Amino acid sequence: MANVTVIGAQWGDEGKGKVIDWLADRADVVVRFQGGNNAGHTIVVGNSTYKFALLPSGVVQGKLSIIGNGVVVDPWALLDEIERVRAQGLSITPEVLVLADNACLVLPMHRDLDMAREARAGAGKIGTTGRGIGPAYEDKVGRRAIRFCDLGDETALATKIERLLAHHAPLRQGLDLPEVTPDSLMALFAEIAPKVAPYLKPAWRVLDAAMKDGRRVLFEGAQATMLDVDHGTYPFVTSSNTVAGQAATGSGAGPDAGGYVLGIVKAYTTRVGEGPFPCELTDEIGERLGVRGHEFGTNTGRKRRCGWFDAVLVRQSVTISGVKGVVLTKLDVLDGLQTLKVCTAYRLGDRVVDYLPAGLRDQASVEPIYEVLEGWRENTHGVRSWDALPATAQAYVRRIEALIGARVDVVTTSPEREDIILIRDPYEG
Ligand code: IMP
Repeated sequence: MANVTVIGAQWGDEGKGKVIDWLADRADVVVRFQGGNNAGHTIVVGNSTYKFALLPSGVVQGKLSIIGNGVVVDPWALLDEIERVRAQGLSITPEVLVLADNACLVLPMHRDLDMAREARAGAGKIGTTGRGIGPAYEDKVGRRAIRFCDLGDETALATKIERLLAHHAPLRQGLDLPEVTPDSLMALFAEIAPKVAPYLKPAWRVLDAAMKDGRRVLFEGAQATMLDVDHGTYPFVTSSNTVAGQAATGSGAGPDAGGYVLGIVKAYTTRVGEGPFPCELTDEIGERLGVRGHEFGTNTGRKRRCGWFDAVLVRQSVTISGVKGVVLTKLDVLDGLQTLKVCTAYRLGDRVVDYLPAGLRDQASVEPIYEVLEGWRENTHGVRSWDALPATAQAYVRRIEALIGARVDVVTTSPEREDIILIRDPYEG
């Protein structure tokens, strides 16, 4: 049975939530494989708006929803989210939600560190979400993180806490943060352990059993390729691998489990936080895109930077993640613009380059080379068929398809679940 992996192909906020919800309808299992509660997926169903940061979007439809080992999980944030969506009428039980027992925890001291470092960095700050994601991943690869499976073993936990604090105590001291004692951490863990225990399982086994049963899996990426710790605009990135390859490592499935890779691409470009953004518009068109596209963070409320469609970046994402097809979102936001620009290459000094170079200085100095396309006056908001799109909107989609080297499978024209133009079904590859 065909599985699908969904990833963001720009800098995040491409509208993955809606697409994932639409795909989850026909999946049996939905798996998160990286990131943490820095993510923000908004799903609108009828009159209800759900905002997820940690829960896989499959919970809306009661699908088996797995938080894989590649996710760093703030258990307090998770429990709050569970309570919040329960209050909205969703049923979150251990039958629906599985939390990988080998996933690492995000602790309050990770948040402290994230925020204190950002505050001290001044102009050099990354513009993180302040959720402690970077420091939590640092502890994971530094082999001193607390994992969910540790919570039930007080003796082992004491040794782990000692090791963790040996690293954090001098850091906190250097940043004028108050001391954290082993006892206070032990008390936090004792409080949280029984609350998360019902959800803990060897998630890779649950996933394997589901796949052997012929169940269809949707791998739900968070953030996006340009925020990937290896392939993004480093160091202005998140601390996880966000590319499609991570679906396997972050869930404990084999490399071919991900199936059809679907890239989510906004019809223009946005980014939150600091870092290079070659096609950024700081004029009234950028402002207009932000207002019409409601470009404010789901989780943090931060205003997103906006710019023209950058085909160079998306082409790069398509290659790095092995994207087969894309969903082009928010086409309607471009309604009413007389002309549209699409970046096809960059000028770097006296050279023309057709990719975003790795070095920060080059990334900051590339200048977009634009192709100008005709816009459309008509209203495309809520349009559900290809034929109902104005000819110039169709031409815009087709041009993007040619420039990025992947076919457009779906176009979305509003936040509503039903407002999509289906060109090719991703589940049919
Ligand atoms: P962190 O993931 O909180 O460490 O933030 C690192 C960078 O990733 C910052 O530029 C954030 O704005 C960005 N970022 C993290 N999560 C998201 C997301 O879900 N959407 C868009 N940007 C994100």
